[in-house]
Amino acid sequence: MSEEIYRNTIDWDEYWDEADEAVRADTSPSANLVQAPFLEFLGAQFPDGPDSYADVGCGPGDLVFEVASQYPDATAVGYDSATAVLTENRERAHEQNMDCSFEQALLPEFDPGRKFDVVSCLFTLCYIADIESALETLYDAVEPGGYLVVHYHNQLAQSHFSTIAQSPHEYLDEDSVWNPETFTDRFELVIEGQSLLSYERIHEVLGSWPQSLFSVADSVDPYPAHRHEPLVYVPK
Ligand SMILES: C[S@@+](CC[C@H](N)C(=O)[O-])C[C@H]1O[C@@H](n2cnc3c(N)ncnc32)[C@H](O)[C@@H]1O
Repeated sequence: MSEEIYRNTIDWDEYWDEADEAVRADTSPSANLVQAPFLEFLGAQFPDGPDSYADVGCGPGDLVFEVASQYPDATAVGYDSATAVLTENRERAHEQNMDCSFEQALLPEFDPGRKFDVVSCLFTLCYIADIESALETLYDAVEPGGYLVVHYHNQLAQSHFSTIAQSPHEYLDEDSVWNPETFTDRFELVIEGQSLLSYERIHEVLGSWPQSLFSVADSVDPYPAHRHEPLVYVPK
């Protein structure tokens, strides 16, 4: 594979090595924005609980720890490209005696050697240059009858991010989760239009229509940016 396919706008190992608590919280959006609807979705689709769950680009692994805690009989695995965050997650699992594991994976390649009832990839596809290959390899790892759950950026996000990139200091103040100095480089693949998806494109690539996760998890209000950054599930 060419370097272009692996192009990433961030050195994630360095990022996690240097991240303080505030950066860590800002880089774990799933914990605040996705955990509640995702757990409602799992409960609705798997009344007896899922047998297996993988989160790819798991970061600090909040969803993996939560699934392992709520469904102790399920296999829960977190995958990430960054050694630093995987090491921390393994230490946390050991300290808290949690039955979950953490493995290395570098999207767009993903070949875990098994399939899972649910595979998720959250707040990560925007950093992957070959987003459609990533979508395919993630979907390959889903058991028939299972679900791929993804968060992605669409053309509305591209337009919004392009506006911010023209004047980041004007739009991003100190309360923003994004640093105005690094915003444009960080989201270059979105701003360039390279790492975008849509319902139609997901259907063309996977042959199955996505649906909003919030159509199942309807007791939770969608997070504010959900029209620009949809959270969808794709049945297999
Ligand atoms: C913004 S964080 C999101 C973490 C978590 N999914 C969440 O939503 O809270 C993006 C994560 O993707 C990981 N990542 C970036 N590029 C990756 C790649 N090519 N393959 C696998 N993981 C990657 C990073 O190390 C980081 O942990």
